[in-house]
Amino acid sequence: MSISLSGQIALVTGASRGIGAAIAKALASAGSTILLVARSEPDLRQVQQSIESNGGMAVYTCADASKEEDVRRALGEVEQRFGRLDILVNCAGIGVFGPLVSTNTSDWDRVMATNARGPFLFCRESVPIMARRSNGCIINIASVVGVKGYMNQGAYTASKHALMGMTKVLAQEVQPLGIRVHIICPGGVDTEMASQARPDLDRSGLITPEEVAEVVLFLVSQRGNAVVDQVNLRRANGAPWFSE
Ligand SMILES: NC(=O)c1ccc[n+]([C@@H]2O[C@H](COP(=O)([O-])OP(=O)(O)OC[C@H]3O[C@@H](n4cnc5c(N)ncnc54)[C@H](OP(=O)(O)O)[C@@H]3O)[C@@H](O)[C@H]2O)c1
Repeated sequence: MSISLSGQIALVTGASRGIGAAIAKALASAGSTILLVARSEPDLRQVQQSIESNGGMAVYTCADASKEEDVRRALGEVEQRFGRLDILVNCAGIGVFGPLVSTNTSDWDRVMATNARGPFLFCRESVPIMARRSNGCIINIASVVGVKGYMNQGAYTASKHALMGMTKVLAQEVQPLGIRVHIICPGGVDTEMASQARPDLDRSGLITPEEVAEVVLFLVSQRGNAVVDQVNLRRANGAPWFSE
C-alpha cells in the first residue's frame, strides 16, 4: 500500500518481535518515525537496526507495558524527543494457555496486566498528547478471542474481551478530540505466540505478521469520511466468522 506518513510519530508496543515488529517496520517504510517499545533491549535494537538499514527512522525504549511508571516514562520520551504523537499501536501481549480451572492466580494477573491494563495505560497517557493537535489514531491489537471464546485460552480470552470493552468506550470518548480508535481481531498469526497457543495448526496456513501490518497501514491511511472501527482478520483456510 502506498501511503505517506512522513513527519508522523508512531509508538508501537510489542515492537521487539512478531506482529509488533512487522507493524513498526511497515509504518517506518511509509515514512513515520517510530518509538519501539518492549522489554527486551537486544530485540528492540535489532528491529531498530533493521528499520534504519531500510532507510527508516526509529528509536526504542525498554518498558513493561503493565507498569504505570514505565508507560509514563515512554510517553515522556515521546514528548521530549518529538513533542507530538500521531499513531499509537498497542500490540504488546502475552498468553498463558491451558484449562481455566488449572490457571494459577499469578498467571491470570500477568495476562490481564499486560493485555488489558497495558493498552489502557498507553491510551490514557497518549490521548492528552494527541488531543493537543486534535489528531490521532489508536490501533489496539485484540484477537479472535476478543469476540469468541476458545478452550484452553481462558485468561487470554478474558484479557482480550477486556481490551475490546475498553476500546469501545475509548472510541466514543475521544472522537470529539479528533482521535480515531480502531481494533484488529486476528486469528492465528505465525509468531512465537501462535506456536505456543495452537501447536496443532499448520504454520504454512497462518496469517503472516506482515498481513496484519498491511491492515494497520490501511487503517492509518483512512483520512476521509469513512472509518473502519473493527477488523476481523481470519486465516484463509479457517471458517468464515459468518458460519457461527
Ligand atoms: N500470534 C497470534 O496468533 C495472535 C493472534 C491474535 C492476536 N495476537 C496478539 O498480537 C499481539 C502480538 O503477538 P505476537 O503473536 O506478535 O506475540 P509475540 O511474538 O510473543 O510478541 C509479543 C510482543 O509483546 C511484547 N511484550 C510482552 N509482554 C510485554 C510487556 N509486559 N511489556 C512490553 N512488551 C511486552 C514482547 O516483547 P518483550 O518480550 O521484549 O517485552 C513482544 O514484542 C499480542 O497482543 C497478541 O495477543 C496474536
